[in-house]
Amino acid sequence: MPLSLTTLGENTAGRPRVLAEWGLSILVETDDVKILLDTCASTTVPHNAAILKIDLSTIDKIVLSHGHYDHTGGLRAVLAETGSVEVIAHPDIWGAKYAVFGEHKRYIGIPFVREELESLGASFILSSDPVWITDDIVTTGEIPMVTEYEQIDSHLYVEADGELVPDLLLDDRALIMKTELGLVVALGCAHRGMINTLYHAREITGVDLIHTVVGGTHLVSASEERISRTIEALRELGVQRLGVSHCTGLPAASILARELGDNFFFNNAGSRVTIP
Ligand SMILES: [Fe+2]
Ligand SMILES: [Fe+2]
Repeated sequence: MPLSLTTLGENTAGRPRVLAEWGLSILVETDDVKILLDTCASTTVPHNAAILKIDLSTIDKIVLSHGHYDHTGGLRAVLAETGSVEVIAHPDIWGAKYAVFGEHKRYIGIPFVREELESLGASFILSSDPVWITDDIVTTGEIPMVTEYEQIDSHLYVEADGELVPDLLLDDRALIMKTELGLVVALGCAHRGMINTLYHAREITGVDLIHTVVGGTHLVSASEERISRTIEALRELGVQRLGVSHCTGLPAASILARELGDNFFFNNAGSRVTIP
């Protein structure tokens, strides 16, 4: 199964005429199916798709990695191109999500009501479990947090019954592709931990070797210890290629680049990864 992953939106642009915005969107294509993981924050995805000569009307499914605006805010612009399409996500994407810094709170959830998106063609498939899209492509379900060194960002909250409580990000999910070389995993933000996500990917698929990982790793505020234990785990999992995006942060990216050498790259807007 030839597979390609094209990043249609990310914090930085890696090609001429491609635009950047805070957020992430990755198009996964095989001979059989086209799946868009996330939509970035506003209108960069349709712009970049046109530059990269990708026709968004041919997309079969959208998968949302979680409810934050920087992954879902492009839905209106993307749905205008796709028309009717299934949108696979966890029910908690609709939570009233906030970033809280001391006295200040900022709404960071989906910037649309469900009815508007449905009127534009979205039919939501909401599930806490893994969703198989083809025989070889599956989304994670809720990601068990098993490593001791990965924690959810302590600034992230959700409003429930008028009260702000820490957001467990049960909606956090990734997209997994089974290939002849091993698993390819596309991450949104990996809020529940990149390594937890990769362990879960192995559990769901029964495939041990993880060949390629691209996307947001949320190492932006990670301690050096967490970063070094993450690198140790990536080596144990056999990861041959790591393309970091979005919420990785420069300090973590620099360490990963130094430690992983040629196996590391910046996965930014316009990047394309092909397997094999
Ligand atoms: Fe996020
Ligand atoms: Fe994000």
